[in-house]
Amino acid sequence: MKHTDIKALFENSESFIGKTVTVCGWVRTSAEVKPMTFIQINDGTTTTRNLQLTIHSDEFSEEKYLSEVKPLLTLGVSLKATGTIVASERNIIELETSDLQLLGGCPEDYPLQKKRSSAEFLRTIPHLRTRTNMMKACMTIRSTLAYAVHDYFHNRGYAYIHTPIITSSDCEGAGEMFRVTTQPWNTDYKSEQEYYENDYFGCKAGLTVSCQLEGEMAALGGLGRIYTFGPTFRAEKSGTVKHVAEFWHVEPEICFVNLDELIDIAQEFIKYIISYTVERCSQEIDFCEKFIEKGLRAKLATVMESDFARVTYTDAVKILETSGHKFEFPIYWGADLQTEHERYLTDVHFKKPVFVTDYPKEIKSFYMKQNDDGKTVACTDLLVPHIGEIIGGSERETDLEKLLNAMNDRNMPLESYGEYIDTRKFGTVEHSGFGLGFDRLVMYVTGIGNIRDVLQFPRAYKHIY
Ligand code: 4AD
Ligand code: MG
Repeated sequence: MKHTDIKALFENSESFIGKTVTVCGWVRTSAEVKPMTFIQINDGTTTTRNLQLTIHSDEFSEEKYLSEVKPLLTLGVSLKATGTIVASERNIIELETSDLQLLGGCPEDYPLQKKRSSAEFLRTIPHLRTRTNMMKACMTIRSTLAYAVHDYFHNRGYAYIHTPIITSSDCEGAGEMFRVTTQPWNTDYKSEQEYYENDYFGCKAGLTVSCQLEGEMAALGGLGRIYTFGPTFRAEKSGTVKHVAEFWHVEPEICFVNLDELIDIAQEFIKYIISYTVERCSQEIDFCEKFIEKGLRAKLATVMESDFARVTYTDAVKILETSGHKFEFPIYWGADLQTEHERYLTDVHFKKPVFVTDYPKEIKSFYMKQNDDGKTVACTDLLVPHIGEIIGGSERETDLEKLLNAMNDRNMPLESYGEYIDTRKFGTVEHSGFGLGFDRLVMYVTGIGNIRDVLQFPRAYKHIY
């Protein structure tokens, strides 16, 4: 349908004044102030800025007005309008409308009405909530951040690789894989092994929790520097505001890089994609600042301008132990950091993002490089205020014997990891990588407090929205 984007009209408003244009969109508000009628429409090319259609009702016969204009005053209908762009003090530009055409009608019980709807209600209408300003701002920021991720890596010589979603190896070893099967639920096999042998792949298969192992194989396999960016899956039975079953994961894997260098890269990366997005999504960030998180702009400015804090796990535990703060989960050396501990470090102690490094090896994954102290591993989690962990990463163990010991300690089936183990045999090199929970980053940049509201169709424990 030949028409002009509303965004283009506002971007070049001067040049459109006096010109005849056709626009399309959904009705956001309307008002009849005789003899004028006003309709504000949005076509998705802008977030909160709507185009006002100005209609002189006395230019229509009563019959024509009732049949052609009146039905367009309903919230949610879609229409096409033609007219002349005029300057407006209040709205910059408006369309003096000469012709209106209904594209798709909308019944009175349209679930989105003028009053603000709650986030809980909007989750029940995922197909419509992208018409709200909040979701539009969020989706625009999300899309820009995603583009910035590719831009960052592409300009630094990383290959963007596509790794399998269906896998037979559990990267994190936390037993949180969804199974992929075509077996009927009541099949009566003699053993688990027989059951899986008869399944589609002839072995136990699941949805990947992380693309890291394939990423390492690609990097060490000769590509040197790679990243993946796609959905990964966790069957955690956890309904918190920062867990979903299907989340978007950015995972670079970089040869000839140690933990310190990895942290520098992760910091540069986060600063870059946030700056890129703040520059291009000014209206959307303003909207989030106004309606979601007061102080958002100042928070993002701090991220862009100052270095993130760095602390070892051992020192972080000391900070928590001597804080005088009463935690629900006890903190001691060896305990995993809970969200309340992470938030004390970011929100109260450091008041900015912090890289926590060198966790005890028992609470981390098999592939992390073992430190000389025999107790910790060369890893890092990036924690940010209000949310907690958004990045988990490490230098990788390259010593074959140490790697095999760590796998055996965890009772991992070595036969499923043959090719991965080979990477430590055939010209292995120092390498490191991390995983960014992209949805959590979107929460951080928008201030939205629930991960289910930064995905249009979230999948979470007990919910497929
Ligand atoms: O810390 P995780 O488990 O690390 C890994 O998977 C590594 N293999 C990554 C790597 O080194 N390539 O997950 C990485 C990040 C977390 O920091 C978190 O932001 C996000 O993934 N994440 C989730 N996001 C939303 N919902 C969930 N259920 C998530 N689980 C992890
Ligand atoms: Mg983690």
